[in-house]
Amino acid sequence: MDEKNFITIALPKGKLFGLSAELLEKIGWTAEGLHEKSRKLIITNEKVGLKFIITKTADVPTYVEYGAADIGIIGKDVILESGKDVYELLDLGFGKCHLMMAVPKDKKRPRFEDYNYTRVATKFPRIAEKFFSAQGMQMEYIKLNGSIELAPIIGMSESIVDIVETGTTLRENNLVEIVTIMDATARLIANRVSYKLKFERINSLVEELSKLIALK
Ligand code: PRP
Repeated sequence: MDEKNFITIALPKGKLFGLSAELLEKIGWTAEGLHEKSRKLIITNEKVGLKFIITKTADVPTYVEYGAADIGIIGKDVILESGKDVYELLDLGFGKCHLMMAVPKDKKRPRFEDYNYTRVATKFPRIAEKFFSAQGMQMEYIKLNGSIELAPIIGMSESIVDIVETGTTLRENNLVEIVTIMDATARLIANRVSYKLKFERINSLVEELSKLIALK
């Protein structure tokens, strides 16, 4: 296929990778060697004109906004935190989780407002700031890139704002939820220009995925 008709798809390395690759494979959007263990960053399927790029989770919206990828699959939480201008095409339904505030069980304060002016460690400072400001609370945000649960345990912050999926990480680290901030699932996103230029292929992908999701 002509290179300019190729579709480039950004997939995140993390938890969503396997489910995303599996879903796309069901409609024939796949490539040889596309699996979790591979260290390859670009995997191409010349026959059907697909190029997969495997990126760090938080970077998917960036690749899509710049048009380096035409489309991508990523969590709603990451889209909002990125602030990137991408076109959200479809809620894929998997990767269900929620963003919440949690604190060490033995240091829980009586009221939510009691955390005003304290420190919160998070991978999501933008969403957290918006949330606490709306509650009239002024917090100090400590941006971390992973293992957020560690921060309040070692006393670097009073709380965390982080993603919960099964609740195992909170439980194993003796943290309890204080408040839910938002629910999230995986989304199919597109670059705005690519969506217009490659409308037929992208739109048929949306239609096929919608049918698959409806069948579940
Ligand atoms: C995420 C999140 C929590 C954990 C929640 O981290 O930040 O730590 O998963 O999942 P659970 O409720 O099922 O335990 P991730 O595994 O992506 O790694 P990270 O700590 O490096 O961000």
